[in-house]
Amino acid sequence: MGSKSFYITTPIYYPSAKLHIGHAYCTTIADSVARYHRLAGEDVFFLTGSDEHGQKIQEKAEAQGIKPIEYVDKIVAEFQKLWDMLNISNDDFIRTSQKRHEKVVQEIFRRVYDKGDIYKGAYKGLYCTPCESFWTELQLDENGCCPDCGRPVKEVAEEAYFFKMSKYADRILKYIEDNPDFIQPVSRRNEMINFIKQGLDDLCISRTSFDWGIPVPIDEKHVIYVWFDALTNYLTPIGFLDDQEKFNKFWPANVHLVGKEIVRFHSIIWPCILMALDLPLPKQIYGHGWLVVDGSKMSKSLGNVVDPVELINKYGADAIRYFLLREINLGQDGNFSELALVQRINADLANDLGNLLHRTLNMVGKFQKGEVLAASGRSEVDESLIADAMATVKTFDEGMAGMKISTVIKAVWAFISRANKYIDETVPWALAKDVNKKQELANVMYNLVESLRIISVLIAPFMPTTAERIWQQLNMPTSFADVRLDDIKTWGGTPAGMHIGEAQQLFPRIELEKEDAVPAAKEKKKDMPKQDNTAKDDEITIDDFGKVKLQVVEILEAEPVPKADKLLKLKVNTGSEVREVVSGIAKHYEPTQLIGKKVILVMNLKPAKIRGVVSHGMILAASNGDELEVVSVDMPAGSVVK
Ligand code: MSP
Repeated sequence: MGSKSFYITTPIYYPSAKLHIGHAYCTTIADSVARYHRLAGEDVFFLTGSDEHGQKIQEKAEAQGIKPIEYVDKIVAEFQKLWDMLNISNDDFIRTSQKRHEKVVQEIFRRVYDKGDIYKGAYKGLYCTPCESFWTELQLDENGCCPDCGRPVKEVAEEAYFFKMSKYADRILKYIEDNPDFIQPVSRRNEMINFIKQGLDDLCISRTSFDWGIPVPIDEKHVIYVWFDALTNYLTPIGFLDDQEKFNKFWPANVHLVGKEIVRFHSIIWPCILMALDLPLPKQIYGHGWLVVDGSKMSKSLGNVVDPVELINKYGADAIRYFLLREINLGQDGNFSELALVQRINADLANDLGNLLHRTLNMVGKFQKGEVLAASGRSEVDESLIADAMATVKTFDEGMAGMKISTVIKAVWAFISRANKYIDETVPWALAKDVNKKQELANVMYNLVESLRIISVLIAPFMPTTAERIWQQLNMPTSFADVRLDDIKTWGGTPAGMHIGEAQQLFPRIELEKEDAVPAAKEKKKDMPKQDNTAKDDEITIDDFGKVKLQVVEILEAEPVPKADKLLKLKVNTGSEVREVVSGIAKHYEPTQLIGKKVILVMNLKPAKIRGVVSHGMILAASNGDELEVVSVDMPAGSVVK
């Protein structure tokens, strides 16, 4: 009965603050995977939501003099607005404050309690309020703080209910060892195995020190501790209590996509709860990496928290989605930079994709009055284009099934470049001048339109709006919503005789000087050439300039380099690391004058050994004859200079 099912989830986000680009990253990954599985014809359930209970939220609401529910209602409405703006195709949105979820959590508590796996005890522990996590002494970081967020923990002691997680330690360890795909990537799997081998404590699952939570069904003065409440969200919307058929269809989940720091909760605690419930375990926990901004961890104090809403308003959802999915290898940490985003938009979207569509539609319009004529016969170049198209569809299918998103995108863009090259190879404007080459021209036009038809489907999981716009500009007779992967698995789906639609620009090129990105470029605004290839010899393009990564760093230490009277060895804080830099400024500064100065460093200069010291970057200085002054600014280390 029915088609294959696929159930994917994101973490449910804490409504303690606005969501940032890191959260948008996670949800975008899940969305692209969900969209791929829908394209593959599967019955998909894609869940996201909000994790609303806990002391931190209660405290925030109290500080504003409002009820917790009023506080979360406001923030959660913003979450949903963001997901709409980003074109997230979730099938449901679970809020842990909803009645339907309360019923599930209480029922689960009852079942596990009746089984004898929950008992009452006393909890004494070290608690991190922002992370809602208890830690043992051993788990704290080197400063005695929370190992996840680095903030101080406080000691708490209270009566609490415990889940007998220790009982399941051997079973979960064996399960992880026997199922190599259960935790991905492999590095996280190894971390988890080591973690369990150190021994699993029973888990505190209730609190009495606050009341913003789901009451323990057998003891109303307790509320259920957030992770027991949060993790069970994955069961609520797929009919755990009210629709057995739906539940059987979607459980176990195919993948819980989560950030690397909460893999532990999902691959150890959650499976133990499920074992206690005699439910099958999710097929995979995938731990993605963290997004940093211009090389630094996002933080309010650094003032570098990137608001996805602002970015979407500025560049559009598809460009942001494309950047996040293309730029970062799933599982690894990745960097977000607005400059890199703009470069991707210009190079990959406006140039490669936009040009292919534009050139194709223009030529079909000009040479064949907009009609896509039937192809007949194939040249060697045609054969190679078609073989590449089919190979790309295969790479897409296999790659997306294995969540190799950035690899897939690179393959799709390699095909886009291939199709652009096909135009240069076949020289259609020359064919159009030769009456004997009409069929050859028709073949080239057909192959280009067909390539674009395929490309539009291949980019649909990543850039759904752009994909549909291409489909519409091609004027394909079928509705884009009905298109499936099978429709592009064979060449020739474009019906001969159809007429193309009107060409519209997909992505306008972003002139960086308008974005205030580069002050030098701004000065040249009037005579700034629009096309890169018209630049004069001594001029560089904005893309050239963009290759130079400049950042504010703070000088921590400075000392002369022995036997080199011009050189100083500096230790600088880049906001995310400490580096050594050798600078030729010894004649102009006493080392002590430099300590604490915030200067500008060329971050990505190839390291060089100078007088035996490896210099990792270059400090900018202004010089005029004998005068020299380092360029200093009053901005935190890690700030980007653009
Ligand atoms: N509420 C818990 C999850 C419960 S799931 C049953 C939680 N919420 S969170 O809002 O703090 O984080 C949600 C997700 O956002 C986590 O997976 C986390 O890794 C992710 N991210 C937070 N900052 C991030 C980046 N800078 N980059 C990428 N993802 C990051 O934890």
